[in-house]
Formats: sequence, structure tokens, C-alpha cells
Amino acid sequence: MATNRADSLPEFQIVNAAELPVSEACLRNRQPIVDVLATELPGRAVVLELASGTGQHAEFITEQLPHLTWQASEVANRMGVLNARRLQSHRDNFLPPLVLDVGQDLWPVKQVDAVFAANLVHCLDWPHVRAMLYGVGRVLRLGGLALFYGPYNYNGEFTSDGNRALDAWVRQEFHPNAGLKDFEQMVLAARREKLRLLKDVAMPANNRMLVFRKYQ
Ligand SMILES: C[S@@+](CC[C@H](N)C(=O)[O-])C[C@H]1O[C@@H](n2cnc3c(N)ncnc32)[C@H](O)[C@@H]1O
Repeated sequence: MATNRADSLPEFQIVNAAELPVSEACLRNRQPIVDVLATELPGRAVVLELASGTGQHAEFITEQLPHLTWQASEVANRMGVLNARRLQSHRDNFLPPLVLDVGQDLWPVKQVDAVFAANLVHCLDWPHVRAMLYGVGRVLRLGGLALFYGPYNYNGEFTSDGNRALDAWVRQEFHPNAGLKDFEQMVLAARREKLRLLKDVAMPANNRMLVFRKYQ
């Protein structure tokens, strides 16, 4: 996120479209993300996006991949920006966003074909990552895909100085126990929810797209 202006917005406030915050990171990573989604989700599918943030990914993806029906979601105090972005986009396949904290017990979704989250996992502590994976395992149909974009450590090591700096920043900004997660631990935690790693795709700027498939 380039800006935290959304954090100060009252719940459900509709924001003037001209004042919508813009994530520079999203502008940089949106095309590589769309390229992976186009490959992994070639047919019609309902996709739940967790932590939609400014809604820029939802807006770009629904424009570029019109065969996807996009269910964006966010925590309550960021819904104003997300709603405003959707209204601005005028796209039928960008559904009205849902309030969804990945730590909540019941998710307001029955079943989806895929789940996507960008730059969420490193903003969470491990209990929230486990809660997220549990929720994903519940709402994803058998054979459905979960795609988690963002930076990960390998064998306990950062893969770049930038990722090390990001780790320090999110611990300060979000939670002392947030920070980059180990790829290997992520794969093990996902398996407990019957999510098997399908692909670990290298993405620009030392990011990855972890693709999991739900099995029985
Ligand atoms: C780094 S931003 C990424 C936003 C967006 N996905 C993007 O890539 O531009 C992290 C997002 O995670 C959201 N978030 C943090 N904790 C969350 C939780 N417990 N449940 C759902 N979303 C959460 C924040 O509100 C924020 O929008």
C-alpha cells in the first residue's frame, strides 16, 4: 500500500472517486498478476479476493479478464474506498464487496471456484494466516485454486534486502508478529486445510505467486 489514508475513513463511507488512494505497488504488479490469473483461471470462475485494499486489482482484473466474476472483500474500516472503486469501475463482474476479516469464524461466502490475495500474508501474524487458510479451505470448491501473491522467505532466509526492509516495516506498521512467512511453513499449513501446492511462480521484484489446489 502506498498510502494509509483509507485507515481514517469511517466505516462504509462512500468516498469521492477523484480522491481514491492509489497504490503504486499495485500499478507495478497488476499486469504480471493478471498474466498468471489468465493462465491458471482460463475459464469462467467466481473468485473471492481477500484484502482487496484500494480495489485496484479488482478493477484491473475484471477489465482484463471479463470471464472472471470478482468478489472483492476487506476489513470494515476500508470498505469506503473499495465500494467507491467498484462504483467507479462500472463493471458487472466486479460484485459489491463483502466485509471480511480473515480471522472471523464465519465467512460471508458459501462456495467459490478460486481465492486470491495480494500482499496479505506478510501483513498477518501466524494465527491469522492459519485462520485465513482454514477459511479458504472451507469456501473453496474441490479442485478450486487458492493464489497468494507476495514475498516469502526460503529456508528461513530473505531473498532480497528489499524484502528484509519490508519485513521490518510491516512489523512496525501492522503487528510485531507480522512479517514475511517461510514458504516451507506456508506449504505445510496449507496442507492441513487440504490445499496442495501446485506451483510456486517467480514474480517481479522478488515476489512469488503460490498456487494451491483444494483436494479431498
Ligand atoms: C499491503 S495491503 C494489500 C492490499 C491489496 N491486496 C493490494 O495488493 O494492493 C494489506 C491489506 O490487508 C488487509 N488486511 C489486514 N488484516 C486483514 C485481515 N485480518 N483480514 C482481511 N484483510 C486484512 C488490509 O486492510 C490491507 O488492505
